Amino acid sequence: MYHFLVHTAVYPGSFDPLTNGHLDIIRRGTRLFDRILVAVLENEGKAPLFSVAERMELIAQCIEKIPGVEVHSFSGLLVDFMHRKGANVVVRGIRAVSDYEYELQMALMNRELSANVETIFMLSAVEYTYVSSRLVKEVFRLGGDISRLVPPAVLESLRARLPVAVT
Ligand code: PNS
Repeated sequence: MYHFLVHTAVYPGSFDPLTNGHLDIIRRGTRLFDRILVAVLENEGKAPLFSVAERMELIAQCIEKIPGVEVHSFSGLLVDFMHRKGANVVVRGIRAVSDYEYELQMALMNRELSANVETIFMLSAVEYTYVSSRLVKEVFRLGGDISRLVPPAVLESLRARLPVAVT
């Protein structure tokens, strides 16, 4: 029997900004799914460094050469966005055990909200296990070298946006 299921996965997050850890998950995801929609949350409450439009533009530049990947934004419930897009899988990257509790809660809440939605956890590459958008911004602000941890376009935008502390 042949199956012709087209699986559209959504990779949701804040992406403020995209890191090489995120990009690694996107690349791995393309081996599993026909389409991956990177979905940037429009979250007014979080006081982000980059606007949603800026984050989307950075993601667009970084995924340009990866077939099957698109960038979108969403507000409201993730499951509602997924229904609108005909997506049935949520992809989330897990770095350490400490990520698990929060991720488990979100996955089970999404399942409660929509029985059709499955969450797939992917392990990030070992070299990015400690990388987070928050730490990248902090280390950059304090003058640390993060050039291995973010795509070149993101590094450039950080340079344009954040003053580096002089010690
Ligand atoms: O990168 P983040 O900040 O860990 O991503 C969190 C995100 C965007 C996946 C999560 O906050 C989310 O899905 N928000 C949308 C609102 C929603 O659907 N909430 C109920 C399910 S937990």
